Amino acid sequence: MRLAVMRFSAMRFLRFIPMALVLAAIPCFSHVYHADVAAATQATPQFPVTWARQIAPIVYRNCSTCHHPGGGGPFNLLTFEDARRRGPQMVQVTQSHFMPPWLPAPGYGDFADTRRLSEEQVTLIRKWVASGMPEGNPSEAPPPPHYDPNWQMGTPDLILTVQRPCTLPASGADHFRNFILPYPLAQTHYIRAMEILPSVPQVVHHANVLIDRTASFRRNHPTDWKDGVPGMELEVDAGNTFDPDSHFLFWKPDTPVLVEPAGMPWRLDPGNDLILNMHLKPSGKPETISAQIGLYFTTKPPIRHPMLLQLEDDRDLDIPPGDPNFVVQDEMKLPIDVEVLGIYPHAHYLGRELEGWAILPDDRKKWLIKIPNWDIDRQSIYRYREPVFLPRGSVLHMRYVYDNSADNVHNPNDPPIRVRAGNRSVDEMAHLWVQVLPVNVPKGSPDPRLLLEQAWMEHRLIKDPQDTIAMYNLASALAGLGRYTEAAVAYRKLLAARPGDARALNSLGAALENAGDLQGAADAYAQAIAFSPDSCDARFNLARLELKRAHFSEAENQFRTMLRQCPEDAGVHSGLGVALAGEGDAASAQAEFQRALELDPDNFAALYHLGEMAIESGQPEHAVDLLESAAKQRPGDLDTRERLAMAFAQSGHAGDALTQLRDAVQLAPGDADLHALLAQVLAGSGQLEQAIDEQTEALRLQPKDADGWNNLGVLQAQAGKTAAARAAFQHALALAPDHAQARANLNRLPPQ
Ligand code: HEC
Repeated sequence: MRLAVMRFSAMRFLRFIPMALVLAAIPCFSHVYHADVAAATQATPQFPVTWARQIAPIVYRNCSTCHHPGGGGPFNLLTFEDARRRGPQMVQVTQSHFMPPWLPAPGYGDFADTRRLSEEQVTLIRKWVASGMPEGNPSEAPPPPHYDPNWQMGTPDLILTVQRPCTLPASGADHFRNFILPYPLAQTHYIRAMEILPSVPQVVHHANVLIDRTASFRRNHPTDWKDGVPGMELEVDAGNTFDPDSHFLFWKPDTPVLVEPAGMPWRLDPGNDLILNMHLKPSGKPETISAQIGLYFTTKPPIRHPMLLQLEDDRDLDIPPGDPNFVVQDEMKLPIDVEVLGIYPHAHYLGRELEGWAILPDDRKKWLIKIPNWDIDRQSIYRYREPVFLPRGSVLHMRYVYDNSADNVHNPNDPPIRVRAGNRSVDEMAHLWVQVLPVNVPKGSPDPRLLLEQAWMEHRLIKDPQDTIAMYNLASALAGLGRYTEAAVAYRKLLAARPGDARALNSLGAALENAGDLQGAADAYAQAIAFSPDSCDARFNLARLELKRAHFSEAENQFRTMLRQCPEDAGVHSGLGVALAGEGDAASAQAEFQRALELDPDNFAALYHLGEMAIESGQPEHAVDLLESAAKQRPGDLDTRERLAMAFAQSGHAGDALTQLRDAVQLAPGDADLHALLAQVLAGSGQLEQAIDEQTEALRLQPKDADGWNNLGVLQAQAGKTAAARAAFQHALALAPDHAQARANLNRLPPQ
């Protein structure tokens, strides 16, 4: 008997990416305009620079994206007339590279969608203005871009809407609102692109979307979640599987659609929530704030799994007033080969110079980004044109310089004051988020992101040994890597800092159980229950463990207690069924399994055990139905396939039985029992030679199996190989001299 339900609690706390800030950033809905820039950038005296030939393509592609009605630019740049009116100013702002807004210095990271104009383009604008801004032949100009005030990529596959709009006062400090948008569908979907449509884009500085896999934030705000929860930092419980944040779900008015790289969509499962965290800025009149999130699906699940890493050193942020050169640094060694896909540097108003780079194992320096003049209002996520390969052993670095002098035009304090780390816009931050994709992963290794997680959390603990979230995530990563003994040590450290943490105790129990210390595990679960008697998780694990130890009546008691707390839990009913079956009460067990299936037709344990019961009670056809459903739930589960094969064989479907067993053998070629079973089914369908091969393979894997030698002898005798059969029976008797069947079979062979 065995119960195949496991709740291995491995919560991950995610820290939200907090982005504060004030200052004016006018939202602008831009649209990537693909004008043909190959249009001549050359101008000769005979062919002077004209609007139509050279300037319109530059402006449409690089300026109109913000400078259009409803866009973020303060005026339009859509027509020849618009441009002529602004000509001299355009020369000024493009020569200084003030426009288009683009922070990274050229040559320190090659980014996709770079907005910076080339020197040729700047020169063309200057020459055009100097020669009197001729229009040229209008028919040579590309068609002006069109901006859709609605969804930029057409109607989304799913639109989620904020449940209750909130009111933003006319004035005062910035607002941070977290709107919860439950994912309403009953199927998993993969998201290739997302757009946010705020009701009043003008007041939205930027927004972040966080996936709450367990709806924990909603649970923690049962009364007020529909109104949007204030605050700019949140922790969510990532649930029992390692599923780290891996995408920059960041939205800014001038980059409204977020399209994920090929092969890397993100996932939404039934029961997930999206949390829309909006940074709002009062506009002078009260505004009603609502928003829609548009999601674009793809049927293709992700084939590559990136991960976000964070360098930071907020603890060191304590900037004396007047200090023009306050430096903060962090560094972290990569345990595996990665490709860097994107980067997101973040500081507030005092940040001046933001740098990120890697030192490779051969000591070479590879720049990731350099921002010489940081400006919070121009913050952005930067994706690399080509992924940046960093071999294992490379060290990621960040170095930020802050200017808290009166000379810093962005300094919000006059005179300057002492500034420390924090979430308010008057505080500072020092964060560098890096999106990496593990590469060159050896086949069969565990999720390589667990190694990144381990390195990251160990690094956090060096910086702050009391960081309990890092302790928890480190322990979970070790458990995920199958290093259960180390995980248990890590959970114990966490428990020393947070005694009575029921969830940590439960996880400790799971680690000990997997490490083989069943008594220690039972004690840890019992402690977790004592600290949190209402939570079903630890009790479930304890009950499951009691089943494993064949303590059926103890298990029954635990499951019955749980039924009082959560009578609708299919897992509890099927667990109780296993306990009752173990106590010999098959009828009650069957009733519990059936109840479990009523509550959840996909409950694996109930399907499996009812299937097994059907085999035992001679209903192989019914067993096939049940076990086929079970196999669909867990295609890799060998026991299920074995039982299914037996059910097929008993109901006369030898071909299907063989298919199941061959699949199973593929999954576990080293499983002797599977080869032996396959031999039986092959023999039953008359394929004696193959049966002998399989039985021989089973014995190669398990040479001391007397029954197996006896079975081999029977097959060989049937195939007329008397001498070989004799040797096999004798071998069985040598291993087990009392083997009555082998002796009888030997005696039945024709004399030599
Ligand atoms: C990403 C959006 C964006 C793009 C692209 C953009 N601008 Fe702007 N532009 C702005 C914003 C916003 C302002 C208002 C000033 C500020 O906030 O920096 C502005 C201001 C200006 C100004 C006024 C500057 C001043 O001193 O007041 C000029 C001139 C200008 N832009 C020209 C251009 C030109 C020319 C291009 C293309 C080569 C361009 N812009 C591309 C957003 C943009």
